Amino acid sequence: MMDTILISQTIIGWVDTVADRITQAARLSIEERGRFSLALSGGSTPRLIYQRLSSADYKKQINWEKTYLFWGDERCVPPEHPESNFNMAKTNLIDHVSIPPINIFRIQGELPPKLAARKYSEDLAVFFNSSLPQFDLVLLGLGDDGHIASLFPNSSALHENHSWVVENFKPSSDSWRITLTLPVINNARNIYVLVTGPNKADIIKEVIEHPNLTPDYPAKRIAPHKGELIWLLDSQAAMLLKSDIPGENF
Ligand code: 6PG
Repeated sequence: MMDTILISQTIIGWVDTVADRITQAARLSIEERGRFSLALSGGSTPRLIYQRLSSADYKKQINWEKTYLFWGDERCVPPEHPESNFNMAKTNLIDHVSIPPINIFRIQGELPPKLAARKYSEDLAVFFNSSLPQFDLVLLGLGDDGHIASLFPNSSALHENHSWVVENFKPSSDSWRITLTLPVINNARNIYVLVTGPNKADIIKEVIEHPNLTPDYPAKRIAPHKGELIWLLDSQAAMLLKSDIPGENF
């Protein structure tokens, strides 16, 4: 897995590096294609990133009129629910920037899972002219079990090769999720995996130093067809990596 690994010594450095990379991706995408399609990650890790992108320093660096927001996955809850990935992004980003509501493609977690997946897939088909969706940037977090988006180990969604969006059951929380599938994620022009904290050090070592599929952690299946994959880590998440792993420290 030839990827780029960037390791920040401080969380502030990590936040600014990720925010800089996102604003750069936005600028290039809009210059080259007139729009920036960004699939946000859920979970807690990206919260600081969304807050930084909302700050005066950064929000003016992105042309929000030409930015289109999607999600890599969503919990099957209403949009105002505290567990909603949309709600987290709305609170920390959307409410603070001038993005037109029509540019926001929320996964309708309040609907029955199969219907929510179908409707989101229909939105993708319209936006990407019925071609396999190719996001300019997909942000992913990493679960300590190696899951990405809502592609959990040994789950049926992990092996879905045709549908772009599926519902997937999360046994540990006895709940349904809606998730992009690997064909879509791996078709992105850029994939950033955002990982911080000591609790992720073990899984980061496993995924980066032992990329073979045993054990079959979903994160090991991130393999962009033509795009770039960057692991953006803080020093705590990276603390068990061998020093000779090719990565840039900053
Ligand atoms: C979600 C995310 C999920 C998340 C990881 C890491 O909906 O929860 O899509 O894949 O990114 O579980 O979560 P944390 O950032 O909270 O550690």
